Amino acid sequence: MAPTYPDEVDVFTVPHSRMKQLVHKYLDMVSSTNFSDAGHMTSMLEKLCHTFHEFKTHEQIENRFIMRRLKEKLTALSITDTAVCNCHSDNRLTEMLSLVLEGYRWAQRSEHERVHYGTRLRQALEDFTQVFLPHMKEEEEVFQPMLIEYFTYEELKELKMKVIQKHLEK
Ligand code: FEO
Repeated sequence: MAPTYPDEVDVFTVPHSRMKQLVHKYLDMVSSTNFSDAGHMTSMLEKLCHTFHEFKTHEQIENRFIMRRLKEKLTALSITDTAVCNCHSDNRLTEMLSLVLEGYRWAQRSEHERVHYGTRLRQALEDFTQVFLPHMKEEEEVFQPMLIEYFTYEELKELKMKVIQKHLEK
């Protein structure tokens, strides 16, 4: 069980509850989409596109306002932590967005091709989920304690407000 922190300094739980809600939504959506129906498929792709843009925005906010600040703190203390540097280093979100956008092309093709794309998309979403959920867990269980350790309470309160504000702006 992950330790809990006061709300005002917990930078991950609120944004992650939104991200987890989106994960459940896309899993439901992709499993209920009829890929034989081009219109149904296109409407699902639009929602999926918004979802992955939201994930991308979430990642950018974390990079800019959390990970960069944490790295600066660690560097100032001469601590090297490669996990902090690498936590968003793969291109999974970009690859998923490309796959979703590719779907618009397949939506114009034959029913057989649409259904085949649907199978690939479902599998890719399941694979993505297998990585994304543990990634968020790592941020909550590894990086949040580091923030608590290396930042003052006031710094974290400010950071939390900024993170929430940036998520609301998008
Ligand atoms: Fe909070 Fe890096 O996802």
